[in-house]
Amino acid sequence: MPAQIGQVTEVTGSNIKALMDATQLSSAQSGAGGDQGVTVGSMVEVQSGTARVLGIVSAIRSAGADKGAVMDISLVGQFVPGANGGSDFKRGVARWPSIGSPVLTVTEADAGSVVKTTSTSTVHIGKAEFNGTQDIYLDVDNLLRTHFAIFGSSGSGKTSTTSVILRAILERLNAHMVLLDPHNEYEGAFAGMTERLTLQTLRLPYWMLQFKELCAVFKVLPESDYASEVKIIREAVVQAKTLYAGIAAGGVSKPGQPTAVGTSTSSLNLDSPVPFRLSDFRRIINDMMGKLDNPEAIQSYLRILNRLEELTSDDRYGFMFGPQFVRDVMGEVICQLTRIPVEGKPITTIDLSDIPEEIVDVVVSVVFRTIFSFAVWSGEEGAVPTVLVCEEAHRYLWDDRSGKTISLAVHAAGQVAKEGRKYGVGLGIISQRPSEVSPSIVSQCGTIITLRLGNERDLAFVRNALPDSAAGLMQALPALNTREAIVFGQGVAFPTRLTVNELPASARPRQKVKSFMEAWSNDITDVGLVTRTIERWRSRLHQIRKS
Ligand SMILES: Nc1ncnc2c1ncn2[C@@H]1O[C@H](COP(=O)(O)OP(=O)(O)OP(=O)(O)O)[C@@H](O)[C@H]1O
Ligand SMILES: [Mg+2]
Repeated sequence: MPAQIGQVTEVTGSNIKALMDATQLSSAQSGAGGDQGVTVGSMVEVQSGTARVLGIVSAIRSAGADKGAVMDISLVGQFVPGANGGSDFKRGVARWPSIGSPVLTVTEADAGSVVKTTSTSTVHIGKAEFNGTQDIYLDVDNLLRTHFAIFGSSGSGKTSTTSVILRAILERLNAHMVLLDPHNEYEGAFAGMTERLTLQTLRLPYWMLQFKELCAVFKVLPESDYASEVKIIREAVVQAKTLYAGIAAGGVSKPGQPTAVGTSTSSLNLDSPVPFRLSDFRRIINDMMGKLDNPEAIQSYLRILNRLEELTSDDRYGFMFGPQFVRDVMGEVICQLTRIPVEGKPITTIDLSDIPEEIVDVVVSVVFRTIFSFAVWSGEEGAVPTVLVCEEAHRYLWDDRSGKTISLAVHAAGQVAKEGRKYGVGLGIISQRPSEVSPSIVSQCGTIITLRLGNERDLAFVRNALPDSAAGLMQALPALNTREAIVFGQGVAFPTRLTVNELPASARPRQKVKSFMEAWSNDITDVGLVTRTIERWRSRLHQIRKS
């Protein structure tokens, strides 16, 4: 039977205060609210007329000597009559309680209805901290549809928590996920489930780049001093695309020659993702240069041709400027990225670690744009929901807060953050520096899971992103243990602090560095280590060249 533990003394929208008198306090402390009594995070029932409202205790403080305690309670939903005489839980509160409304403990059956296990759309991620027994589930659709973020200092358990959540989703479903992994941290977590794309296997043809991305690769940003270079690239791209589309549309096309799906010269524009040949591009620029009557202008043409030479001869750019892209491989690129068909590998991992630093922004932008555009254009036939998960997001979705420069990646990810929900593209942001990730992206995340956070700037940023009702839980952030997290938002029934499920040892992020104490306790006698390391280092580069 639920026991009364207080009565409402103040109502401010969905936040209320309730007083526990001295007797109620002592019985609550002795366990009336569960094994550990009523504490921050506990569920309580507030009676509002005939309605039974669910609240979460967000703070609890003494009301003075022998006067009991005051509880701050956030109202999160309501119990409604369910099947077999039980009750179901519904988000949202239809009727606010009034002064004097009784506050009760929640029965086990009611607590169970809040975090229902029978629903097929939830995954189990851990146990609530307030009693150590309450199971906590994430609602998969709400989590992915409205985007999620996972924050925490280095070593707090972000990668492991992400692995626990994604593995729980992936093992049941033919999911379509793309994970950007700058440090190759997920190899163990998704062994056998992932198609891993490295510099050798990734394919992002240069002709799928939008004009501004192509300019960035050529290091001539449209708003920079390189106005003449920008004009030359524009002219040459349009001409080369038109030439290719003309052939593909039947002009001088022969069997076995490349075709461009869905292109006609009349519908073509600068940003159309249709093939063109670099040989045409080069020749057009040479022709334009040959007609110059001002020799000084030649520098701009030479600069582009030199950069083109650099891009086509450097193996690290082979995934974008390789000779294989004279063919129209757009369908293959999309299938590779989005896992169509899934064939037992529901997640694509893109290893960003080898990609030249200067081009990471463009790569992330193209990946986001391609997946988003595919979702938009496939909408008529029923889009394939896809989720993009960004590990170490502050590295490529950063924001200097000046508002002056928005990187290509932030622009493309921002579009997914704002409009992805409509087209079935979800976003997951993982970062140890939330205050450095673009706030326009984080503000669109409907569910936030935060592990231990110590840095004051990051704490302030996360506090701002959370509703007031989470303030009590937030106090614990700097002191959380590894694997402990606070979760709130669309993905969970109510904000709570939890211990995340344990990830099997084989699925944990690889510990590349053992303990300093352990490592330094003996001298290194095997100097072959250095030679072997240099070999691995060099052969990696060599491998890229060969591929
Ligand atoms: N759910 C979990 N199950 C098992 N071990 C865990 C879990 N969460 C954290 N750990 C332990 O804590 C260590 C650090 O976790 P993890 O690598 O996930 O943290 P991180 O926040 O991603 O760190 P970094 O910022 O350095 O990438 C792991 O190697 C693992 O031993
Ligand atoms: Mg990590």
